[in-house]
Amino acid sequence: MIHASAQIGNNVTIGENVVIEENVVIGDNVTIGHNTIIKKETQIGNFVQIGELTVLGKPTSSNKKMARKPGETLDPLIIEDYVTIGCNSVIYRHVTLETGVFVGDLTSIREKVTVGEDSIVGRNAIVETNTLIGKRVTIQTGCYITADMVIEDEVFIGPCCSSSNDKYMGMGNFKHQGPVIKRGAKIGNNATLLPAITIGENAIVGAGSVITKDIPANKVVVGNPGKIIK
Ligand SMILES: CC(C)(COP(=O)(O)OP(=O)(O)OC[C@H]1O[C@@H](n2cnc3c(N)ncnc32)[C@H](O)[C@@H]1OP(=O)(O)O)[C@@H](O)C(=O)NCCC(=O)NCCS
Repeated sequence: MIHASAQIGNNVTIGENVVIEENVVIGDNVTIGHNTIIKKETQIGNFVQIGELTVLGKPTSSNKKMARKPGETLDPLIIEDYVTIGCNSVIYRHVTLETGVFVGDLTSIREKVTVGEDSIVGRNAIVETNTLIGKRVTIQTGCYITADMVIEDEVFIGPCCSSSNDKYMGMGNFKHQGPVIKRGAKIGNNATLLPAITIGENAIVGAGSVITKDIPANKVVVGNPGKIIK
């Protein structure tokens, strides 16, 4: 089903059972896999590839227990040129995927997120709301990127890393703030980053570390709790 108000460019390949809702704009040379749903007002650039069974521009929802309510009006999802999105992914409204971004299969990206040019969000990675991801960042398979986080340019985050933004887990006495990872820092497999810490520029966090405090620039940190070894 393609809504009559949708604008579709030249040389666009659309699979079986694709739904394109009202006021969607699609550029030239775009490929859309079978059973993908593009929600209203989503804007897609040129040379974009979208896999099967993906939902783009999903609106938010919540229940009464959740702290964040979807009340406000969110901007549309914007997908710039040369972006590739895998199969079975869900990307919400008010996300911008800048030029050349790669999003793997089974990935979920919540609202109010920007992913900078040429960055990678790996398979089965989850990016929560209100998080800024810089340019040329690598987020590997299975990462959990919490809300309210800042990831600067050229950061590398290894598989299955996890981060948190609420130190006291819903008791309501902590301002939600995710970690800040400064430019060029590298985080090993399965590391856990606690809320509101800063990982300095070009610092290295070893696999499996639990980081409870700020890490200065250019240091190597390993263990639980993380200690500087170099
Ligand atoms: C942190 C890291 C870069 C350190 O490498 P390195 O500088 O060559 O350090 P070494 O291997 O010489 O180890 C130095 C010491 O730290 C310990 N160590 C190294 N990595 C550790 C880790 N992740 N957790 C706990 N201790 C660690 C070593 O056992 C060694 O201890 P010792 O001095 O008692 O023998 C590396 O060990 C690491 O964890 N890399 C992450 C790999 C990864 O997750 N990649 C993701 C993409 S696949």
